[in-house]
Amino acid sequence: MTQQTGLEALSTESRRFDPPTELAAAANVKAEAYERAAQDRLGFWAEQAGRLQWETPWDEVLDWQPPFAKWFVGGRLNVAVNCVDRHVDAGNGDRIALHWVGEPEDDTRDLTYTELKRQVCMTANALESLGVSAGDRVCIYLPMVPEAVISMLACARIGAAHTVVFGGFSSQALVDRITAAEAKVVITADGGYRRGAPSALKPAVDEALERCPSVTNVLVVKRTRQDVDWVEGRDLWWSDAVDSQPEEHEAQAFDAEQPLFLLYTSGSTGKPKGILHTSGGYLTQAAWTHWAVFDLKPETDVYWCTADVGWVTGHSYLTYGPLANGVTQVMYEGTPDAGGRDRWWSIIAKYGVTILYTAPTAIRTFMKWGEDLPAKHDMSSLRVLGSVGEPINPEAWMWYRRVIGGDRCPIVDTWWQTETGAIMVSPLPGVTSTKPGSAMGPLPGIAVDVVDGEGVSVGETGGGFLTLSEPWPSMLRGIWGDDERYKDTYWSRFEGQYFAGDGAKWDEDHVLWLLGRVDDVMNISGHRISTTEVESALVSHPKVAEAAVVGAADPTTGQAIVAFVTVKGDVTDDESGAEGFVTELRNHVAKEIGAIAKPRQIVLSPELPKTRSGKIMRRLLVDIAERRELGDVTTLADPTVVTQIDETMGKLASKS
Ligand code: WT7
Repeated sequence: MTQQTGLEALSTESRRFDPPTELAAAANVKAEAYERAAQDRLGFWAEQAGRLQWETPWDEVLDWQPPFAKWFVGGRLNVAVNCVDRHVDAGNGDRIALHWVGEPEDDTRDLTYTELKRQVCMTANALESLGVSAGDRVCIYLPMVPEAVISMLACARIGAAHTVVFGGFSSQALVDRITAAEAKVVITADGGYRRGAPSALKPAVDEALERCPSVTNVLVVKRTRQDVDWVEGRDLWWSDAVDSQPEEHEAQAFDAEQPLFLLYTSGSTGKPKGILHTSGGYLTQAAWTHWAVFDLKPETDVYWCTADVGWVTGHSYLTYGPLANGVTQVMYEGTPDAGGRDRWWSIIAKYGVTILYTAPTAIRTFMKWGEDLPAKHDMSSLRVLGSVGEPINPEAWMWYRRVIGGDRCPIVDTWWQTETGAIMVSPLPGVTSTKPGSAMGPLPGIAVDVVDGEGVSVGETGGGFLTLSEPWPSMLRGIWGDDERYKDTYWSRFEGQYFAGDGAKWDEDHVLWLLGRVDDVMNISGHRISTTEVESALVSHPKVAEAAVVGAADPTTGQAIVAFVTVKGDVTDDESGAEGFVTELRNHVAKEIGAIAKPRQIVLSPELPKTRSGKIMRRLLVDIAERRELGDVTTLADPTVVTQIDETMGKLASKS
């Protein structure tokens, strides 16, 4: 068995696809870019920044006071003007910016760049009339509707930073983020559509705002027309506040380092971190990577990124990158199975999508649903396929290439993080060869290293920790309000290098393989959730004494959350019994964090396996959760605990 796995891995590593010559000839980026960028990294990035429209040019490309960076020092630009106005000014106002596809069938809207500009201007005026000005923060809690993109751009236009909170997060998560960011205005909707039915959003905001004194107004998009509670003076319908505004808005240029957004993400400890991104460097790398990695031809491409705006992918590759490049894109509101399990493929056929950017978890779901569904649709328009969010297993990669890409589209597996702001590691279509399951290597202008536990580079081949050894334009500028945590989290483990939190290895061809997180961060369907966060949510339940949470391998979601919980007193004499209590606990986690953090399984146990010094043995819990043969348990204080937990887990696993 072991031997066979080894051989498979070997054959995968040695299997490679070389770019066809036609593709190489037409590619945006040529192979020389790597060499040139390596020789003059700052010059390379200055050239890419030059693709944007600056009101004032920069004096210095990089001011690096480790670990604090300023890019394009002294330069001034307006991010929204770069994403919208300049395309209209260039005569492309009639080009579709967004083909928006609602979840209910036939509920669609097309916005040209001219129309997008009009709406962004009106929204910017509306925000200003509510007292929002440069330097303020606005919280956006919306479903996948055009107003999400419009709101982000309106904030950018007036120099206010947005903090988008994923619609799947709970009211409590909203409180944490609004409070930390001291947001002045919240933009939300009455609700959104989820699997055919309207689901509410505003009640979570109402509940949150009882505890958020910084918020003066709430703008509410009418999406589902369901009844909502209303606070007079605080709440405003989007249609009332925005539609009456002047259609022109004079945009001012801001410093390259003007905060553009905060995005909260899970770390290995404590509360989510507010990752800060600024304007000039961020937009430079988001726009250039979007153009280079997808070999984008803005005049002819129809690009579709399936990520939600609540995650960084929705920021860099749905809003800022594609719009800075002036391309036409699809934005879809719903789930992959709304209106049929072939909904995505019918959207691709209808709009002639040429570039698709999605996550491995989605691909694995489609594999389960079968090849017949994509085969029913004409997807010959596709020419580049992207993957992001977690390592893509070679089987899913091959399926994506064959079934979705008709064996003709290059696949770009893109590694990056909320913190990196934009893609860092990826092949380039037409330039780089690809191996199924590998992100291949750093992009031009990006310096990565794989180091051992002491921070010493492993050299050309070998495994260890992924680090970034030089600053990059779209790097986070810090953690909002916490410079110490910024230094500790990313810059203290290895001297002078950014520690990404991922394991990685170079194979014998010096090709890079990402091996998953090495910290307590789980990756569930490409979403980042920390074990400690879920543990805190569990122990905040009055009946929970102790909780240990692990990420266990899952064939569809990559990892799944498994929780081991000890309770105070006896829950089996509750009316609903132990099973009812487990449901109650899962809902409790959903309330504290959001439905995405609900454990797949919760194992109730009288005790948790601990070493004699009292440390919970997580490795062992992972083995139990993944139903592996248990190794040496002799270091445990009480080995019988394990046997019992393992049995309970076995029963749960056989049920699901
Ligand atoms: C973590 C970052 C990047 C936007 C979405 C997730 C994992 C991401 C890949 C990939 C292997 C990947 C890493 C990383 N990850 N892309 N192509 N191959 N792993 O952003 O929530 O900040 O999570 O996602 O573990 O550290 P995020």
